[in-house]
Amino acid sequence: PDLESLLNLDDIEKAATKQISRKAWAYYYSAGDDLMSKTFNNTVYRQILLRPRVFVDCVNCDTSTSFLGHNVKIPLYVSPAAMARLAHPDGEWGIAHACAQYGAMQIISNNASMTPEQIVADAKEGQVFGWQLYVQNERSKSEAQLARMKKLPAIKFICLTLDAPVPGKREEDERSKNIGSNLPVRAAVQGGDSTSKTRSDVKTPAPPKAMGVGQSLFWGTAADLTWKTTLPWLAKHTDLPIVLKGIQTHEDAYLASLYAPQVKAVILSNHGGRALDTAPPAVHTLLEIRKYCPEIFDRIEVWVDGGIRRGTDIVKALCLGARGVGIGRAALFGLGAGGKEGVARVLEILKAESETCMRLLGVERVDQLGMQHINTRAVERD
Ligand code: FNR
Repeated sequence: PDLESLLNLDDIEKAATKQISRKAWAYYYSAGDDLMSKTFNNTVYRQILLRPRVFVDCVNCDTSTSFLGHNVKIPLYVSPAAMARLAHPDGEWGIAHACAQYGAMQIISNNASMTPEQIVADAKEGQVFGWQLYVQNERSKSEAQLARMKKLPAIKFICLTLDAPVPGKREEDERSKNIGSNLPVRAAVQGGDSTSKTRSDVKTPAPPKAMGVGQSLFWGTAADLTWKTTLPWLAKHTDLPIVLKGIQTHEDAYLASLYAPQVKAVILSNHGGRALDTAPPAVHTLLEIRKYCPEIFDRIEVWVDGGIRRGTDIVKALCLGARGVGIGRAALFGLGAGGKEGVARVLEILKAESETCMRLLGVERVDQLGMQHINTRAVERD
């Protein structure tokens, strides 16, 4: 399609839906049970009202900020999302290309369809990446992967995902399990494509054949992670800062902050609604943190993801105290709509919408955004 004619993220999703396989669509679109968390992730932003100030010079608008001290041009990153090549052969490398163009950060999924080496191969000077880890039952596999990251200076942190020790029940994905005999792509870092002879997961029994994409990717993932055992284990195998992804309560955000400086950020996320359905959207967790332990914002960075569809959503998250926001499906659907140019179009739209929002609010820089710019009455019940 003519990417210029796609004006917003809904247009992009519709265009991608027409182009990608039914199986890819089902995997990307799906979420837990009744999709309540997935839906609420977005509608909650719609319930927050903006409070624009007028008579303010808004000629200049600067969306730049930093994540863990690394400069980025927009307070936006691409969340780790598996299997980008189900959407387009450009895959995660294509996402990296688009991120370089717009100065956005990218977190590479443990289940990416290309190796981290391939994805960062053309990284630009100053381009920022993180690498996401699903700790494997066979710890030696994860340890070998962490060792690999040491050789890739573009990777600045390890993002440990905690909200999905087991996959959620994703019915749309399960329904499509019999479409196509096998997955067209496999998690590259876990041992190459399905024809690779070098896979080291011999101790994990082969998964039953007919499973949704999500379930088959989770095969071998550890469910026995704990605060006490996993962070010291990680410290032995990486010097990189740790970002904990999938925090959903102020209690866990507070616990995470106690592990600073090893833990440098948390991502408030319910996995795009794909894990526990009716788990809270990040906005609720942000509001909890503001109420019960606001000092967390001074100790570690707080990032959020889930349901970002508009620049106004990004700005509202920043007003609530988030350092930046992640997009998952939007980047995958961008790829599906037009490869690396499609992802660039998604970033272009979100950047332009964020700038328009900041200007109409009467704000020049992201660090000026705060609670004075929003009215959250409709989402605060107590
Ligand atoms: C994900 N997500 C995810 N998270 C993670 O830590 N590791 C992963 O491998 C994946 N894989 C994945 C695949 C697909 C298809 C989706 C849609 C999501 C979750 C992702 O990082 C993020 O939390 C959500 O996608 C954010 O919600 P939105 O932007 O999709 O609404």
